[in-house]
Amino acid sequence: MGRLSKGMKSSVIPAAVTFAIFGISLRNSPARAADGANPEGMKFFEAKIRPILAQTCVNCHGEEKQKGGLRMDTRENLLKGGKDDNDKPQQVVVPGNPEKSLIIEAVNYKNEDIQMPPPKKNVSQKLTDEQIKDLTQWVKMGVPYGDKPVEAVKKE
Ligand code: HEC
Repeated sequence: MGRLSKGMKSSVIPAAVTFAIFGISLRNSPARAADGANPEGMKFFEAKIRPILAQTCVNCHGEEKQKGGLRMDTRENLLKGGKDDNDKPQQVVVPGNPEKSLIIEAVNYKNEDIQMPPPKKNVSQKLTDEQIKDLTQWVKMGVPYGDKPVEAVKKE
């Protein structure tokens, strides 16, 4: 009995220490900064990105409709991606890498096969240069996202 409790004590303490060190290193690691949970990134998201998603994307890629199988209303849903023409899962954003991100290709209107938001009756709905720049910057920053899902702003 005595030997057992002594053994337990010595294993419990290192576990606690390991956890504490692990916890601290997680909080300060670049990986965590890159996942977008940093305050600066969240501020950028709330100020610049949430309005773009709410007004121009989540109407078709949100809770109600998921065109192309894609939801953009939370970071998790966005990272899950959509479906390609063969109904295969398709990544649409690579955090930190706008050049490899389909959402950025789409908003740039350079590829006729994918232009977002889609043209209406052949009239371009292309975002402003400023909005495209902000979205590109957002992906570069690692796709920081607020805690609250983005709700669509209905346009009449
Ligand atoms: C009016 C509805 C509508 C709006 C608004 C819209 N989309 Fe789409 N989106 C679609 C449709 C329909 C598809 C699937 C067909 C296609 O690829 O053209 C699609 C597909 C996509 C895909 C490919 C998903 C996949 O894997 O198949 C991406 C990426 C995308 N949209 C991004 C965006 C972004 C970013 C915005 C906002 C700037 C946006 N969309 C706004 C209708 C919309």
